[in-house]
Amino acid sequence: MSKEWQAPPLRDGPVDLFIGILSAGNHFAERMAVRKSWMRSKAIQSSRVVARFFVALHGRKDVNVELKKEAEFFGDIVIVPFMDSYDLVVLKTVAICEYGINEVSARYIMKCDDDTFVRVDSVLSEIKKVSPGSSVYVGNINYYHKPLRNGKWAVTYEEWPEEDYPPYANGPGYIVSSNIARFVVSDFEKHKLRLFKMEDVSMGMWVEQFNTTTPVKYIHSLKFCQFGCIEDYYTAHYQSPRQMICMWDKLKMGKPHCCNMR
Ligand SMILES: *[C@@H]1O[C@H](CO)[C@@H](O)[C@H](O)[C@H]1NC(C)=O
Repeated sequence: MSKEWQAPPLRDGPVDLFIGILSAGNHFAERMAVRKSWMRSKAIQSSRVVARFFVALHGRKDVNVELKKEAEFFGDIVIVPFMDSYDLVVLKTVAICEYGINEVSARYIMKCDDDTFVRVDSVLSEIKKVSPGSSVYVGNINYYHKPLRNGKWAVTYEEWPEEDYPPYANGPGYIVSSNIARFVVSDFEKHKLRLFKMEDVSMGMWVEQFNTTTPVKYIHSLKFCQFGCIEDYYTAHYQSPRQMICMWDKLKMGKPHCCNMR
């Protein structure tokens, strides 16, 4: 616990990008690795980009007590008021949209996981390529995917009656423009938002709905890696705390390279 890793103060005006990071109560090591690596990006340290962990409550009280202390000390955790469960992850995504809109007035909102390494400057320049004010959905986009109907991760017909999923960006790293996030929050508050347990598919469904009234640019890039890391990545997934630190060391030298040890 060193002050060096505390979140910088928020600025008054709007921020370019808000990054919501899904995390779990007992993932202290994962959060520390993010704090010591890509959260050191200049854009975050200068508060042009703000990043926060979204953590739900743990079944063990002592974990929650530690979490509260950690949240107070580092100032970078949003505790969402329900018990952590896979079926409720989608509510964290809604909370990320809400925070990005209401607390920091972000132009763009990104969602990632605590084992995602984010190359913040490249993500920023990627979204700056689209003209300001246009609606965008950026990530590694799946088209024509279908729900698995069997096995451990089966999706029932009650949960998802349709044959196909909408086009959706993979969960480990995607970005939406603020008008899409505002639409999500507004429909949620009106109890009109359809929720599906897979948060990334849910976002795809909301964007599809938004696109029926306002055209959305879908920007697909494999550099938002779902399985591990590729050279010149925008985001890398399944990165251990050691890999995060290693990748950051390389990135500081100007080298967006992967680290292959665990
Ligand atoms: C978005 O809307 C446009 C215009 O209705 C449509 O042509 C396009 O297929 C939609 N895109 C997606 C990915 O649903």
